[in-house]
Order: sequence, then structure tokens, then C-alpha cells
Amino acid sequence: MDPSNGEKLAHRLAEAGQSHLLRFWKELSPEEQHAMTTDLEAMDFQEINGFFKNAMAMSGGNEQTLDSRMEPVPRDMLGSATRDEGCLEHWEAQGKHRIARNAVAALLLAGGQGTRLGVPYPKGMYDVGLPSRKTLFQLQAERILKLQRLAERTHKTNCRIPWYIMTSGGTTESTRDFFSRHDYFGLNENDVIIFQQGTLPAMDYDGKIILESKGKVSMAPDGNGGLYRALGSQGIVDDMVRRGIEYVHVYCVDNILVKVADPAFVGLCVQKGADCGVKVVEKTDPTEAVGVVCKVDGRHRVVEYSEISPATAEKRRADGRLLFNAGNTASHVFALPFLKDVVRKHEPRLRHHAAHKKIPHVDARGRTVEPDRPNGIKMEKFVFDCFQFAETFVVYEVPREDEFSPVKNADSPDGKDTPTTARHALMSLHHRWVLNAGGRLVDENGTRVTAAPGLRGGTDLPVTCEISPLVSYGGEGLEEGLGRITYNKQ
Ligand code: UD1
Repeated sequence: MDPSNGEKLAHRLAEAGQSHLLRFWKELSPEEQHAMTTDLEAMDFQEINGFFKNAMAMSGGNEQTLDSRMEPVPRDMLGSATRDEGCLEHWEAQGKHRIARNAVAALLLAGGQGTRLGVPYPKGMYDVGLPSRKTLFQLQAERILKLQRLAERTHKTNCRIPWYIMTSGGTTESTRDFFSRHDYFGLNENDVIIFQQGTLPAMDYDGKIILESKGKVSMAPDGNGGLYRALGSQGIVDDMVRRGIEYVHVYCVDNILVKVADPAFVGLCVQKGADCGVKVVEKTDPTEAVGVVCKVDGRHRVVEYSEISPATAEKRRADGRLLFNAGNTASHVFALPFLKDVVRKHEPRLRHHAAHKKIPHVDARGRTVEPDRPNGIKMEKFVFDCFQFAETFVVYEVPREDEFSPVKNADSPDGKDTPTTARHALMSLHHRWVLNAGGRLVDENGTRVTAAPGLRGGTDLPVTCEISPLVSYGGEGLEEGLGRITYNKQ
């Protein structure tokens, strides 16, 4: 390192109380010193210290006050796919109209590390074991393709739904490589825009940046709310403006049933003139790991499952349902002007949440320590924290069995949100699509399978039935196609 630069860096570190990062400097090789200098020079330590202070202030002891300020979303405020069934067609038509005008984009949040699922590659590349062996990425890509075709057919135009995919340091290259190896699953390469979110150092409870090894800081993605900073710094908002986008569907990677760029949801937001909206399902188990949509101080908010107290999560209404039962499916629609405001005006006001973690680090003697209890925090912004700035907000409730089955955890007996539960949910839904279209499934003896949708003989095994998204986006169009679809029996 140029000595004057070295001095500047050492000075900056000292000023920020982070000099310990250079503790092993003399033991590093020139290459390691170079790599570490590059990493450290890119960091704004004063800003990081500020993030830490705010994150700790938010995580420490305000649970009580937050809980006491929470109010449920009034039922009559909810748009509902079942209660307002009569409006669905209209919403869908509105959404498709926007799609046909190339004014709708999809944005996938895929920068998570997938720690709970325990795979060493991006979650979108996961194959839950469907008969087609399609990955989550492929299912989503094909839903986009199908939706483009449906909009084209209705509106007789060429239609493109740009697909923005946010990755993080650890997932960018493998995601790019995966899409390129699969020819973007038939989508136009220019319409699949992969961009990277930022990272932040992990901190110990004294506010010291953690060293993962003698020459390397422990870094982690800055949460899915890192989206807003990345949208600005990577020129993505500008790209949206250039393309004439009006609405953006932002969603998480792991829900196998996700209706990417859902025209009904977009249409509802169009009709209400909403700044943004969230899709919810009824939460029935107080311990389920979903955030709840509610109001805090009169503004819409999601209170995350890690931040709600058990007592509040368990509160019930007179009819026995959970008081806070609007479960966040991590599927959001943003009107572009609002999204631009979030990126350009509100982003600095979003605070990081503290995720308490066991963070491997080196001790004073340079030995690696694998802690057995949390020893520090990773700092994460949450994508939904900007809801508080929305003037018009939509909460859209949909049936869980039609739209929500995330893959969070590895398979285990009685496991929740696993590859198996997701696979079963998808096959069960597709079985119902067949029944709704007037089709029937028969077993090996030609006997009609009449079990409750998706469940056969009282067991948990659904009939093996998978319909390609290229055939049907949401159960439509099967009446004419039934003769062409092969249904497998279990
Ligand atoms: C998320 C929601 C939760 C919701 C649940 C539904 C957030 C903060 N929480 O919880 O309210 O009820 O989904 O399944 O949205 N990601 C990034 N960058 C990061 C971290 C995560 O892009 O730095 C992405 C992940 O790849 C994933 C999504 O954000 O697609 C959600 O992350 P995950 O950690 O799985 O969130 P949950 O805790 O399951």
C-alpha cells in the first residue's frame, strides 16, 4: 500500500474506533494486505458505526412499545380474492392491460444466503423434486413467459415483462451462470437484468467490526431492504424509467406458488391508485415465521416474526382467529413514482434491523472461533419498511393453498415449509385446476380419484400432477387443453 494511503486508512480506522482490524497486518502476505486494503477503503466507518447504533437501539427493549402501538388492518380495508371474487376479472383485465403496454416489471429478491435450507448455491436454483425437475427460477421464468403470451393474445401486441433479479456477493456469479447456461429459459436475455445488492460488516456487541480471518472482515448482505440503495446505485430505477415501467412486482425467491407479476394484484393497485400493496394470507398459527401486516401509529407496517412478542402474536379476536392474522407472503406491488421516492428520498430513513447471529471470528491470538451462542449482529434493512411512507396502501388477501408455500427449511419428518410441503402444495393446486376445468384423474385401474383436492385416501400424499406454467399461468385455458396434458398417477 502507498504509505500515505496506509496512514490515511489507519487514521480513519482510529477515528472510528476500528483500529483492531489491522491487528494482524504484519502477518499478512502482500496479496492479503492488498485485498484487505481494497475492502477497507471501500467502507465508510462512520456510517457503519451509525447503522450499528441505530440497529441496536431498535432491537433493544422497544418490543413492548412496538406491541402496544400495533393495530390490526381493518377487515373492510382488505381486497380479497375470495370475498371480492366478482371484481377479480376486472382487476385482472386492468393488470393485463398494463402488462400488454410493457408497463409492468417483476423484481425478484434473491440475495439471501439460504442458510436454513442449507444449500451452497442460490435458492432459486433449487429443485424441489417435481416430476419436471424444474427449479424455482425456471418455474418463475415460465410464468413470466406465459403471462407475456396471454397479454399478447388479448391485446394483439408484442409484450415484454422485464425481470430484475437482485443477487448478493455470494450469489451473483452462480445466478448469472445458471441463467446463461439455460438460455434464460426462453426469455429475452436483455429483459433479465441481474444486479447486486450491497454488503455490510458483521459487528460484535461493542460495535467492533468482526474479523472473519486475520486479513478478512466478516461481511453479509444488507438485507432485502438493501434493494432500495441498490436500485439507485446500480442504475436500475433509471432503467425502469427508460423502459416506461409503471408498476413493479417485488417478491421473494422461495414461494413455489408465486404468481409472478400477478395481473389481478397489479390491477387492484391500479384501481385503488395505490403507492404500493402487499399480498397476505391468513396466519392461523401464532408461531408461523411470517411477518404480520398491521398499522403502527396509523401507518401501514409489517412487524416481522422475529420482532413481535409471543403474547401479541397469540392475541385472538372474539371469533377465535388471530388478531394479527394478515400474514406477509413477501409479494409486493409498487407504483414507480413511489418506488422512485423511496430510493431517492426515504431510503436513508430506513433503519437496519439487528439479526443476532453466531458469527465465526478470530480471537486476539488469531485463532478461529466458532461461537455456540450469538456473539454479534448482522445489519439488515427490510424491504417492507418503506410501507410507512405510502399514502395509499393496498392489502390483498388470497387463499394460502392457491398462492403461498415457501421453501425455507430442509426436509425433515413433520418439517414446515420444506421442499416436500412445497411440492405437495403445487401438485395439489394443479389437481384442483384440473377438477375445476372439468377434468378428472384416474388411477391405474381407471377408477376416478375422488379424494379431497390433492389428498388421496386420507394420507398426506397428493396425486402426482404437474402442469407446466407454459400451459397455464393460473389454471386458465385448461378446458381446451385437457386432452393434451398427461397426468401421472402416484
Ligand atoms: C420473509 C419476510 C417475512 C415473510 C416471509 C414469507 C422479509 C424481511 N421478511 O421472511 O415477513 O412473512 O418472507 O415467506 O422480507 N434476501 C435478499 N437479500 C438479503 C436477505 C434476503 O435478497 O440480504 C431475499 C431472499 O433471497 C428471499 C427474501 O429476501 O428471497 C426473503 O428472505 P428470507 O430470509 O427468506 O426471509 P424470511 O425470514 O423467510
